[in-house]
Amino acid sequence: MRLAVTGAAGFIGSHVVDGLLGAGHTVLGIDNLSTGRMANLAGAVRADRFAFAHQDITRPDLVEVVRAFGPDAVCHLAAAIDVRRSVEDPIEDARVNVLGTIGVLEAARAGGARQVVFVSSGGAIYGETPLDGSGATESSPVAPESPYGAGKAAAELWLQVYARLYGLAWTALALSNVYGPRQAPDGEGGVVSIFGSRALADRPVAIYGDGLQTRDFVFVGDVAAALVAAVGAPGAGRLNIGTGVHTSVVDLHTRLQRLAKGSRPPDFEPERAGEVRRSALDASAARAALGWEPRTTLDQGLRQTLDWLATA
Ligand SMILES: NC(=O)c1ccc[n+]([C@@H]2O[C@H](COP(=O)([O-])OP(=O)(O)OC[C@H]3O[C@@H](n4cnc5c(N)ncnc54)[C@H](O)[C@@H]3O)[C@@H](O)[C@H]2O)c1
Repeated sequence: MRLAVTGAAGFIGSHVVDGLLGAGHTVLGIDNLSTGRMANLAGAVRADRFAFAHQDITRPDLVEVVRAFGPDAVCHLAAAIDVRRSVEDPIEDARVNVLGTIGVLEAARAGGARQVVFVSSGGAIYGETPLDGSGATESSPVAPESPYGAGKAAAELWLQVYARLYGLAWTALALSNVYGPRQAPDGEGGVVSIFGSRALADRPVAIYGDGLQTRDFVFVGDVAAALVAAVGAPGAGRLNIGTGVHTSVVDLHTRLQRLAKGSRPPDFEPERAGEVRRSALDASAARAALGWEPRTTLDQGLRQTLDWLATA
């Protein structure tokens, strides 16, 4: 298939590109390189079946770029991903994440695509997850706590509208907390990259609150496999992608210290407002629709991430 991938140079997008190329597809990567890096596509650019467009999804000329390529499906991962910045500047968040998504849908329609696979966020659209059971399901209430989460929920509504108006099939993969190689360890990077890079450098980390807040950490290779499975499959609506396992921030820190052979205790800082206490996703629907399940254990994934951080 011919696939356009927005956010191709990003952490998750670049793994998706590698997975799609590995599955034999032809890929156009689209990215404005705001947080993405061409280094993430070092393997992809060597493939004949890969082309890259340095393009902003919010610009009207996106339509021409996508039309010229003529994709069978569009994988939409480009986004402003900083949740705290979305609180500080909700209009900019909506410009990229809501208007940008509408621009991608327009380009997909004009380019003749039959399907859009969107990357949503289970961690940001559902509220608190009960500790019992295996996590939030697709029918859990949508209760975003941030403009970023509201933008993801809004984008899913736009996918539904384009399905009704134009018959564009859609699947939205609602991811839990993704971690792995190529995730930026600086600034707003993921907690695994931050804790991991500090553990390797024997530098202290801050844990906000008591550290018993839980997250569902899913390995980026498993997430890329879910995207590859969703492409070409019938549109399935929203599917949660996570492990269903609650891991506390303190547990994560302890594991990384053990794997990096560190011994430095964390510094505890005051809790941050607007963070859910418990978050995990039930991925049974993705198992049924796509035959997908997470294959990488947390320790295996953390080991691969530390190996990458040590060379990055
Ligand atoms: N990392 C996670 O835990 C997580 C969880 C749930 C959902 N997601 C979603 O997954 C997707 C990828 O996130 P990521 O973690 O790889 O972050 P990332 O910042 O590495 O990737 C985002 C990519 O989009 C590009 N981009 C941003 N604005 C753009 C624009 N206007 N035009 C073109 N390209 C633009 C960036 O340059 C970057 O390459 C996002 O949609 C994000 O919301 C991530």
